[in-house]
Amino acid sequence: MFSTKELVKVAMMTTLIIILGFIPAIPLGFIPVPIILQNLGIMLTGLMLGGKKGTLSVVLFLVIGIFLPVFSGSKTTIPVLMGPSAGYVIAYLFVPLAFSFLYDNGFAKNTLLVFLALFLSGVLLVDAVGAIWLAAYTRMPLTASLLSNVVFIPGDTIKALIATMISVKYKDSFLNTQN
Ligand code: BTN
Repeated sequence: MFSTKELVKVAMMTTLIIILGFIPAIPLGFIPVPIILQNLGIMLTGLMLGGKKGTLSVVLFLVIGIFLPVFSGSKTTIPVLMGPSAGYVIAYLFVPLAFSFLYDNGFAKNTLLVFLALFLSGVLLVDAVGAIWLAAYTRMPLTASLLSNVVFIPGDTIKALIATMISVKYKDSFLNTQN
């Protein structure tokens, strides 16, 4: 399974996701989903830990969230999974695996491709799944929901850029998508 050192890295990334949840969210008037910084932690987790350990780190975050208010706005996991933002949170679980799949299949060649892999997995995947759930939850037309989610793209793209730059600096000590 995982070594103690790897499990420490998993716990460190879960801690980072939780810390980023303390930063206040920015509410949007037209949809019941705020702009947050916590998804930067999810992106970094995928980048730094890869598929298996990254998924474990996100699962750990969700499990801790059952007992403690670790989400932005001091929310816990169960109410979030029953609310309008559940789609984004479910998609969080797949970010490390999706990123890792792309990284291992041609996207590791240079920093631009790594950023593109993170954009596809950590931005487009999350925002698309989130928008589909939001449409179902609010009974808003899917097109309207997808269009309203475009508001997240600039900020999420900047988060993906920041995460990529951080991983370029620290990848030797952290990134290992093979396990
Ligand atoms: C929660 O209820 O805490 C989850 C909020 C999810 C917000 C999503 S994540 C992707 C997109 N980018 C943002 O800044 N906000 C939404």
